[in-house]
Amino acid sequence: MNSPSDMDLSSLPKEKWWGEDYLCQVGDFWLLPQFIEPINRVINNFKPIPSDVILASFPKTGTTWLKSLLYSIVNRPSIHRLAMEHPHELVPFLEVQLYASSKEPLTITSSSKPRRIFATHIPYQLMAKTFDSSECKVVYVTRNPKDTLISTWHFMNKWEKAKEEPWSLDEATEKFCRGVVPCGPYYDHVMGYKKLSIERPNNVFFLTFEELIYDTKSHVKKLGEFLGCPFGDNEEEQVEETVRNCSFEVLSNLEVNKSEESPSWFKLPYNSFFRKGEVGDHKNYLSAETIGRIDEITKEKFQSSGFMY
Ligand code: A3P
Repeated sequence: MNSPSDMDLSSLPKEKWWGEDYLCQVGDFWLLPQFIEPINRVINNFKPIPSDVILASFPKTGTTWLKSLLYSIVNRPSIHRLAMEHPHELVPFLEVQLYASSKEPLTITSSSKPRRIFATHIPYQLMAKTFDSSECKVVYVTRNPKDTLISTWHFMNKWEKAKEEPWSLDEATEKFCRGVVPCGPYYDHVMGYKKLSIERPNNVFFLTFEELIYDTKSHVKKLGEFLGCPFGDNEEEQVEETVRNCSFEVLSNLEVNKSEESPSWFKLPYNSFFRKGEVGDHKNYLSAETIGRIDEITKEKFQSSGFMY
């Protein structure tokens, strides 16, 4: 399989994604052309140390929530930090922030703490060498594909480009099912980390947005143990506080997260990462036929792993 390091952009397979914009194929994955170089830099230069925590996810599956939870679990108490900085600033993306423009990572206060936490949307298959050679802890969050599709569709339609050329739900569905979306195919992304979590359970914690919604407390406790920072004394109280501080209601009402300003590294405002935060919103948008079609694909793709939605 090719990795981004050994290829020239113009030689990559391309496919139209939205209007005139296209994605490039690296290995089996479709990437936005502007992220190919940064991803290459991460793959070639980022060497995680054993105490590092890396949050991996497919876009729109709960990354922002997990960023705030992981930050809070590792740095207790955290409410004052959460009130001052957006979760994306507390836990930076490797490819979008740290290695965006140089092979020397940007210095971000929170990423130089003794316990560093980073995030990435890079598929495991493209970053296998980095993960396989490290004892760092990886947390992977995934989400029901239909809600992921709807969340992605809403998010893309906030882009400037959508004002002139909205991304239709039919097109978004078609591309999602074929895997031609940034970091797609979704199914291969999930399976890469799912397999890794089975092979290396001490290093990889795999969870779903839905599990987290239905029982946030017990997952927060388990994450604390997995990361080597269990809650200990006053466990119930501390877990409850962490869950509350990172809840959609609390986070989305913090001034820093309601901000209409955009970060230096992204074109959308900070508030665009919070919409509804619910399970099952796809039922408000997708026809029974489309739901059936996506369910069939999901069954086929996930069956072999015993993992199912
Ligand atoms: P919806 O668009 O369905 O509302 P990501 O962070 O990976 O971009 O995912 C964004 C999704 O997570 C959005 O879903 C967003 O509303 C939801 N989200 C953000 N913060 C959340 C929180 N604290 N609790 C639950 N969902 C959250």
